[in-house]
Amino acid sequence: MRNFNYQNKTELIFGKDTEAKVGQKLKGLAKKVLIHYGGGSVVASGLLDRIKDSLTEAQIEFIELGGVKPNPRVGLVREGVTLCKAEGVDFILAVGGGSVIDSAKAIGIGACYEGDVWDFFIQKAKVSNTLPVAVVLTIPAAGSESSTGCVITNEENDYKRSAGHPSMRPIFAILNPELTYTLPAYQTACGLVDMFAHVLERYFTNEPNVTLTDRLCEATLKTIAEQGLAVMATPNEYAGRAEIMWAGTIAHNGSLGVGRSEDWASHMIEHEISGIYDIAHGAGLAIVFPAWMQYVYQHDLGRFVQYAKNVWDIPTEGRTEESIALASIEATKRFFKKIGMPTTFEDANLPIDRLEEMADKAVENGPIGGFVKFERNAVLHILKIAAELK
Ligand code: NZQ
Ligand code: ZN
Repeated sequence: MRNFNYQNKTELIFGKDTEAKVGQKLKGLAKKVLIHYGGGSVVASGLLDRIKDSLTEAQIEFIELGGVKPNPRVGLVREGVTLCKAEGVDFILAVGGGSVIDSAKAIGIGACYEGDVWDFFIQKAKVSNTLPVAVVLTIPAAGSESSTGCVITNEENDYKRSAGHPSMRPIFAILNPELTYTLPAYQTACGLVDMFAHVLERYFTNEPNVTLTDRLCEATLKTIAEQGLAVMATPNEYAGRAEIMWAGTIAHNGSLGVGRSEDWASHMIEHEISGIYDIAHGAGLAIVFPAWMQYVYQHDLGRFVQYAKNVWDIPTEGRTEESIALASIEATKRFFKKIGMPTTFEDANLPIDRLEEMADKAVENGPIGGFVKFERNAVLHILKIAAELK
């Protein structure tokens, strides 16, 4: 196990009706809040009104900025930065999913910076300070509610890039599983794939002697697979929604990756797909991850056999390591398909004429991947597997 230093400042407030506490939680932390939200689900559900009532009751001044789109755009982030500076906002409250939270985080760093906020996403500036951000989460998926990063799309050139810093972890996150009952099945499924992928990115490591984090990863993966099916079948049942909401946070709060190397090539390849085609990140991952597995499994057959046994309960007796590894890739695909996710470009009705461009962009800042390192041609190969050209 490698040396590590882990700190997570996000206070997690979990359970029924917890959003009613938001005004009280902000007392003493904020003078003027920007409430940031998405395309309208929180308006339709009445959640936004309840949040505003809670702030008003706590006598906290606020302004609003809605309209965050999935794959959040830098244009709205810039608008938010200008608004925060002009209005003297000292706290941002994100009410929504990963896109809203990421947009809020980007506004937070932009508001403490003189230049253009996109500088942080092209390594022209380093994050050192942010306005504090808190979250009322409405979809378990991205894990942004307690992660250090944010991912923003530049609508002028289709680049989707991330920025991160420990200061960007939200101050607190309110996680009420009941708020997720209104999710369309497709969004629930995209969230399941995303959190599953966040664990896989950490699970496929070259670091020996990381048994505890291996077991924690396997438990989280198993829970997402089992409870994910339950949630798809009975979306209004609290028990399953609660397991999945907690799993989404655990999957990406960094604790499963301590002491080990991580991979992240699939995420970087996926960001090229959703950056260009604006599909949901989870759906993009369902296309990329099985192709990535197909390409790398021979690098460490033992790890794939462990994944097969401990996550999918695949019988191993009398079988070769290779056939067990391949069975684990099939099991992964089957899970994604069962919950209605695409696993090829064709399934998602995506064209396959820009694979070369995506491969070029994915490695623009150097080779990607920690488990197996990829240059451009390896990325292209994976995209071709996903496009069923190989
Ligand atoms: O915009 P509204 O109307 O709110 O609708 C949203 C949106 O259309 C809807 N939704 C959310 N909660 C709902 C709901 N509809 C009904 N009832 C509810 N309770 O769901 C749609 C998707 O929302 P979005 O926020 O885009 O989903 P998600 O949480 O999956 O976030 C995806 C973004 O997060 C980034 C992704 O790249 C993508 O841009 N990621 C962020 C990470 C991070 N910051 O740590 C890590 C991830 O790997 C990921 O890259
Ligand atoms: Zn992700």
